[in-house]
Amino acid sequence: GKRMTVPALKGRKQDGRTEQPIVMLTAYTMRMAQLLDPHCDLLLVGDSLGQVIYGLPSTVPVTLEMMCNHGAAVVRGSWHALVAVDMPFGSYEGSPEQAFTSAARIMKETGCAAVKLEGGRAIAPTIRFLTDRGIPVIGHVGLTPQAVNALGGYGARGRSEAEAAKILDDAKGVAEAGAFCVVLEGVMEELATTITRAIPVPSIGIGASAECDGQVLVTEDMLGLFERTPRFVKRYDDLATRIGNAVEAYAGEVRARSFPTADQTYRPKA
Ligand code: KIV
Ligand code: NA
Repeated sequence: GKRMTVPALKGRKQDGRTEQPIVMLTAYTMRMAQLLDPHCDLLLVGDSLGQVIYGLPSTVPVTLEMMCNHGAAVVRGSWHALVAVDMPFGSYEGSPEQAFTSAARIMKETGCAAVKLEGGRAIAPTIRFLTDRGIPVIGHVGLTPQAVNALGGYGARGRSEAEAAKILDDAKGVAEAGAFCVVLEGVMEELATTITRAIPVPSIGIGASAECDGQVLVTEDMLGLFERTPRFVKRYDDLATRIGNAVEAYAGEVRARSFPTADQTYRPKA
């Protein structure tokens, strides 16, 4: 099979309609990528790995090196989905040139096909600079977690009319600058509908209603690996409980000397 391409994904949306919604999940490791890849159009190496993998308080401390290491692992573990890697906080906001240097490093070191960066109208010139130079970009507007210190938290965005108007303008700016799709995070359904109708490229929602052209979730959230998740997360499994049960069984058998048995033991052939 051939890997999903940027034009194929962008082309899912024709005349404002998406017949086949885009399926996207986060992946940070080779093994998880292998498991998700057959079912996904896009795998996102999200900077959410800061919290999920490294136990950091936010995505702000995430480094380019972390994104490159995990991005390379996910590319190695996938063959079908398009892999996009998040640009971490501080690696692209300084100037379009800084963004290009960072994005080029990510692409060279990982083999990914696209990068994602947060921001609206203000970052549009940077998106244009990258897309003009052969770097496919995914936009990310609405709740932008790298701006948590400015936003004051992770609550849904666009509740006021003024804020909704700004987010709509952000999405339009990012799409006009050449982003091939736009992640909408944590916005009211009405705003997600308006944005999805207003932009020519697919919208990919997370906490942004079923009106979007695709959906993304943090894989560990939807698998039930965390106690606390935002309300927009649907839990498709309860892996935290299942892993706890498995480890409890292992610990009990080790303590009872009932693991390993002959089946798991090397002995001379009879
Ligand atoms: O970092 C991340 O996981 C993301 C998605 C949730 C969109 O940016
Ligand atoms: Na992110």
